[in-house]
Amino acid sequence: MAEQFDIPQGTKEERYEALLPQIASVVEDEPDLIANMANVASMLHEAFGFWWTGFYRVLDGVLVLGPFQGPLACTRIKLGKGVCGTAWQQAATVVVPDVDQFPGHIACSSASRSEIVVPLKQAGEVVAVLDIDSAELNTFDEVDKCYLEQVAALLVAKEVVS
Ligand code: SME
Repeated sequence: MAEQFDIPQGTKEERYEALLPQIASVVEDEPDLIANMANVASMLHEAFGFWWTGFYRVLDGVLVLGPFQGPLACTRIKLGKGVCGTAWQQAATVVVPDVDQFPGHIACSSASRSEIVVPLKQAGEVVAVLDIDSAELNTFDEVDKCYLEQVAALLVAKEVVS
């Protein structure tokens, strides 16, 4: 595992490009998904200064809060509820430019203005979601979707959720 984290600089693309190999290095020798989620939440949060960065895992048919960085968050989200429950139901990334325009958005924090939720899939089944909130509108786009889906794939490449 990498012993230090070089915080990426430059454009969004450049920062993701610098981040991906560091994430791969951190997770490659660690089989525990929660440990890897914790480090990935930390690295993404520090690299981009997001408002909230974390994971929800599918446990007994509900999304349950996992490792995260940022303010206190709601602990359980049902299928189809909020942005997280929608991404889980659709098994697809959901980009929300303005959370106030997303029907059913769950406001864990009133400071959150835009959001992206990326599902983690094993054998086509959603086992968790990566949820990132920004305190600004229109933070996330196709670039974030592309790279964060690669981050999600790195996390589930070998681990089995316990
Ligand atoms: N806003 C999310 C809930 C989780 S918090 O943002 C951490 C949603 O609508 O699903």
